[in-house]
Amino acid sequence: MKRVFSGVQPTGNIHIGNYLGALKQFVELQEENDCIYCIVDMHSLTLPQDPKLLRKNILDVAALYLAVGLDPENSIIFVQSDVPGHAELAWILTCNSYTGELSRMTQFKQKSKGSESAPTGLFTYPILMAADILLYDTDVVPVGNDQKQHIEITRDLALRVNNRCGETFVVPEGRFLKAGARIMSLDDPTSKMSKSAENVHSRISLLDDANKIKKSIMKSTTDSEGSIRFDIENKPGISNLLNIYSAFSGMDIKEIEKKYEGCGYGTFKKDLVEVVVEAISPIQQRFHEIRNSSELVSILKDGGQRANAIAEKTMKRVKDVFGLGI
Ligand code: TYM
Repeated sequence: MKRVFSGVQPTGNIHIGNYLGALKQFVELQEENDCIYCIVDMHSLTLPQDPKLLRKNILDVAALYLAVGLDPENSIIFVQSDVPGHAELAWILTCNSYTGELSRMTQFKQKSKGSESAPTGLFTYPILMAADILLYDTDVVPVGNDQKQHIEITRDLALRVNNRCGETFVVPEGRFLKAGARIMSLDDPTSKMSKSAENVHSRISLLDDANKIKKSIMKSTTDSEGSIRFDIENKPGISNLLNIYSAFSGMDIKEIEKKYEGCGYGTFKKDLVEVVVEAISPIQQRFHEIRNSSELVSILKDGGQRANAIAEKTMKRVKDVFGLGI
């Protein structure tokens, strides 16, 4: 049985990219693995947050975890800041990382835009993520493609400490899905779908209603060729819609191309609306049932205790390795 760990930031607007790249994998993996899924609230502090909204968003992500099918009997579901080991281990790893390797992280470069007043937390973000993963002796990390570089630095840090101090950490591997690993923005299919983009029609949030989904898909950017064909280079918009169709329906891209041979973009988009709405409406229904139940908070508290028991063992081992404490 493998140990699986992953996390989602509670920054609102959880979208179909998050679902198809990450959450869907979380559910698939939980039957046959030892899974731990975290709501990484401390990562959200890398950008300013409204405290009330952050609390709401934490509970929203927790309810979505359950709504997509995570079972707290099978998986540990918890909030990062409830387990002190994440911050403790992050400091130890910070002391074993290089400023050069952190400066090369593309997410830092994009988000800081070269500004001297970018929060230091944005710079050290990948180390906190490495701590999340290494704290639980994780074998497998299901994530979207945008996290590849962060998984690489986690592996580098684990190997570096193991080489310097002897076997301390399990070296984890990333797990990426074929169709869902990189869902692109609907208005600009050359950039990834994001929670924070200003245009709400650039994404489909998991909690969007059918009308909004229809509008966003029908407005989505395509091309003037008129044929439904997968070609990332020349037809990034249609290729992205084909990916979404495939990931939600389970149909192969080739099968979908065949089904829509000779059809216009309008017909294809209308059908895609149906496919997406059909797939996410049961999730929305469960979300609303769970979101205000008292059970939600007790699931998180229980998850926090179970996660902490594992984290404490790792921290004892790590502190011994580094000669910390008495
Ligand atoms: P976050 O909250 O930005 O995204 C959560 C998950 O969704 C994936 N994802 C996507 N997948 C496909 N297409 C997209 N357009 C898309 N956008 C986002 C992300 O890859 C991610 O898997 N750093 C992480 C959170 C984190 C974490 C961890 C993950 C913190 N600690 C430890 C794994 C293990 C993040 O910002 O995810």
